[in-house]
Amino acid sequence: MWFFNRSVKFTELDFRTDIHSHILPGVDDGFRTEDRSARALELLHGMGLERSVLTPHIYPELYPGNTPVSVRLRLEEVSGLFSSTGVDCRAAGEHMVYAGVEDSFCRENAGEVLCLSGKFVLIEMSYAFESQNIREFIFRLNSMGYHPVLAHPERYSYYSGSLEEVTSIADMDTRLQLNILSLGGFYGNTAREKAEAILERGLYSYLGTDLHSLAQIDQLKSLKIKRKHIHAVERLLAGNDSLWQA
Ligand SMILES: [Fe+2]
Repeated sequence: MWFFNRSVKFTELDFRTDIHSHILPGVDDGFRTEDRSARALELLHGMGLERSVLTPHIYPELYPGNTPVSVRLRLEEVSGLFSSTGVDCRAAGEHMVYAGVEDSFCRENAGEVLCLSGKFVLIEMSYAFESQNIREFIFRLNSMGYHPVLAHPERYSYYSGSLEEVTSIADMDTRLQLNILSLGGFYGNTAREKAEAILERGLYSYLGTDLHSLAQIDQLKSLKIKRKHIHAVERLLAGNDSLWQA
């Protein structure tokens, strides 16, 4: 009974929907081969996962081949293999906020933007430098009817533990997504401390694995959630389930 313990294993919670991973094979710095991707989904399904939004990096400078058309096509290519894993997969993207990124959302084919669900768009920044146009881009996204979801704010080194900057981004009608492994300190103590502070402030809406490798599944299996954080994490898990239906 988890309520008698000081912590609970993440695998004991209802983790049914993931909204951030790099499992789609051979398209970015995540999984390389179809077999390992399928193995990852099988293992996650064994942990209870039923639905997964696959979010390769969308950043022309590093991954020029990743477009809405190519990403969807890649998922179609592996859909037969993935369907046998028991996890329902959807293709989306993790959009880097680079100078000029808004152009890709304003073209005539903007209807092909890789959304998580509905018009929810996952965005990210460099870990070392804040994108100069982040606030302008969020404003543009909102004005175009999109709902920005900022990935792993706890990992951005330039955002202080005071949460002043994170709060100001959230106040711009931006949802925040926790990397669940941050709570286990897998990205370092600073990221863990910021993740806990943001969680305790109630500023996250969703969580993701941001899975890049099979080794991270072992980390997920060993991850423990502090008792005082269980309800907050359960709220994010419910948020993930709702987002899939958006
Ligand atoms: Fe990611």
